[in-house]
Amino acid sequence: MAKTKRIGVLTSGGDSQGMNACLETIITMAERNGYEVVAFIGGYSGLLYDRYRLVSSQEASLYFSFGGSFISSGRCPEFMESESRKKAKHVYDKHKLEALIVLGGDGSIKGANDLIFQGMNVIVCPCTIDNDVYCTNRSIGFDTAVNNAVNAIDNIKQTMRTNGRILIAETMGRNCGEIAMQAGICSEADIIMIPENKQTTEKIIREVGKQLKVGNVSPVVVLTEHQVDIQSLAKELESTYQKECKAIVIGYVQRGGSPTVQDKLLAVRMGVYAMNAVLEKNFGNVVALVKNEIKLIPFEKAIKAKYVFDNELWQTFLNLKRYKTEKKQK
Ligand code: F6P
Repeated sequence: MAKTKRIGVLTSGGDSQGMNACLETIITMAERNGYEVVAFIGGYSGLLYDRYRLVSSQEASLYFSFGGSFISSGRCPEFMESESRKKAKHVYDKHKLEALIVLGGDGSIKGANDLIFQGMNVIVCPCTIDNDVYCTNRSIGFDTAVNNAVNAIDNIKQTMRTNGRILIAETMGRNCGEIAMQAGICSEADIIMIPENKQTTEKIIREVGKQLKVGNVSPVVVLTEHQVDIQSLAKELESTYQKECKAIVIGYVQRGGSPTVQDKLLAVRMGVYAMNAVLEKNFGNVVALVKNEIKLIPFEKAIKAKYVFDNELWQTFLNLKRYKTEKKQK
């Protein structure tokens, strides 16, 4: 009897929309090529503690259009220790895996790189809403998160405007301002505050003042999390301008819901590429989107990749804002 070939899959870190579509693609391709797929449950901890189950394309296809990850995801600080990685190698060997495909963000790539040194064959598909995996132009989940943030801000804006209130909307993104910048531009924010372009709260307060002065009854501030305490900022704005201000954390709404077409397409393209990399034994790589082409980037290069801030987009926003404000003044 022919020996069954096996690969492992896991989803790690904060989940992102499109993980399921990517898993379905990988599992389907793996099955068609005679592989069984072992899914480790809850990220790297599943690999560490051998929590797994066999998954099929039939099961995976039920989740293709859903956010989240049907095999669970999670963060595993323990995985930083070298002993843990040795344990993971035992589990990998026990299941007789030919390769492991990891779906996750920058931390997951570092973890995957360490597994290579233990003698495992690993490939990573970049999945995070933050878009902070710098070797790829886009990570799976980012587009959906931005769309969700825009929808949320647009909805809140309607009632803010009706009631003449100032809005502060906080997006996710950790240290990366891409969600706030893109969502801010697409929801016509008047002020955007991102980690790449830090501003003082005094400046934000002044900018809101300028908006009120040119007749904007309901200025909108969109900012990335972890920069300021938005409730205190709201209080300061209220006392400075004697006007109601609502500070809203958009939160996990950004990380849920069906992936957009763009995220599904990216998930499928990356999933196919990842499985082909397994078949061709091109291990130790991140599957990346570079100028609309899918490529393999070696882990070491991926880890060292530098953030290229989209300054052109940022300047476009600033110029547009200046133009709109000046026009209103005339
Ligand atoms: O990395 C994705 C992300 O959603 C960040 O934008 C956010 O800061 C973080 O995860 C939240 O993590 P958790 O779900 O563990 O609270």
